[in-house]
Amino acid sequence: MGISNSELQQMLIIISFCVLLTTFFKVVGSTQSGCRSEFKCSHDGPPIHFPFRLKDRHPDHCGCPGFVVSCNDRHETVLELPNTSVFKVSFIDYDDQQIVVNDSDNCLLERLSKIGNMSVSPFNLPYTNNITFLNCSVASTTSLDQYETVPCLSSPSHQIYAVDSSQSIEFILGCTKMYDVLSAPETWHWTGPSRTELEPGGKNCGLSKGT
Ligand SMILES: *[C@@H]1O[C@H](CO)[C@@H](O)[C@H](O)[C@H]1NC(C)=O
Ligand SMILES: *[C@@H]1O[C@H](CO)[C@@H](O)[C@H](O)[C@H]1NC(C)=O
Ligand SMILES: *[C@@H]1O[C@H](CO)[C@@H](O)[C@H](O)[C@H]1NC(C)=O
Ligand SMILES: *[C@@H]1O[C@H](CO)[C@@H](O)[C@H](O)[C@H]1NC(C)=O
Ligand SMILES: *[C@@H]1O[C@H](CO)[C@@H](O)[C@H](O)[C@H]1NC(C)=O
Repeated sequence: MGISNSELQQMLIIISFCVLLTTFFKVVGSTQSGCRSEFKCSHDGPPIHFPFRLKDRHPDHCGCPGFVVSCNDRHETVLELPNTSVFKVSFIDYDDQQIVVNDSDNCLLERLSKIGNMSVSPFNLPYTNNITFLNCSVASTTSLDQYETVPCLSSPSHQIYAVDSSQSIEFILGCTKMYDVLSAPETWHWTGPSRTELEPGGKNCGLSKGT
């Protein structure tokens, strides 16, 4: 005496239902545990949690679009921007919703000037700086201590400085002006997702735009 076709169908339906149910609870479970955990790339690196997600540590669905960071081989926290480049994240202020970026190759000003006034989704750059790059013979550098250097463009004989363009720079001896650029600030704000939006009833990412 065998199992009839309709009995077989019933069994299959019950089995499928159980599998679906298990999958559903697995997903819900990981939302609750995995997304709340906090990771760091190094002892003094910024703690990473919602709305950010540390790649390969948090489950994929945890962070918001554009808030994915990873650890590089120097144990630095890095933010990958679509299209442009990678910035090191020095600091994340989850309450004021801002990050401070740096560059692991000591070329922050040059990097920021490549961004200029573009928007860096999902971050807002509330203002831009006009800066002038100066190429100065090293012999003249003693009087230029107040200016920021651009080490990655400098050479043993010539130091490159970045100066606010509104400053009068005509009379700096030993320097030639390279160019004026519109530079992004190193503090970037985000609106939308905050920590509390991961709580029950929160609206999670709440971003109107994608990427
Ligand atoms: C992104 O890259 C594409 C192709 O490489 C380029 O056409 C576009 O202008 C870039 N966008 C930005 C914002 O740099
Ligand atoms: C940025 O990184 C450079 C090294 O690349 C370091 O000397 C500097 O102190 C860092 N600045 C901040 C604000 O963390
Ligand atoms: C940003 O730069 C683009 C060209 O790169 C320019 O057309 C635009 O007016 C600038 N926006 C602001 C707010 O400076
Ligand atoms: C930057 O410089 C340009 C031209 O040199 C000027 O039109 C613009 O107003 C300046 N922007 C700021 C924010 O100072
Ligand atoms: C700075 O000026 C020196 C001398 O003119 C030149 O050799 C060097 O390439 C310049 N550096 C940059 C980054 O333009």
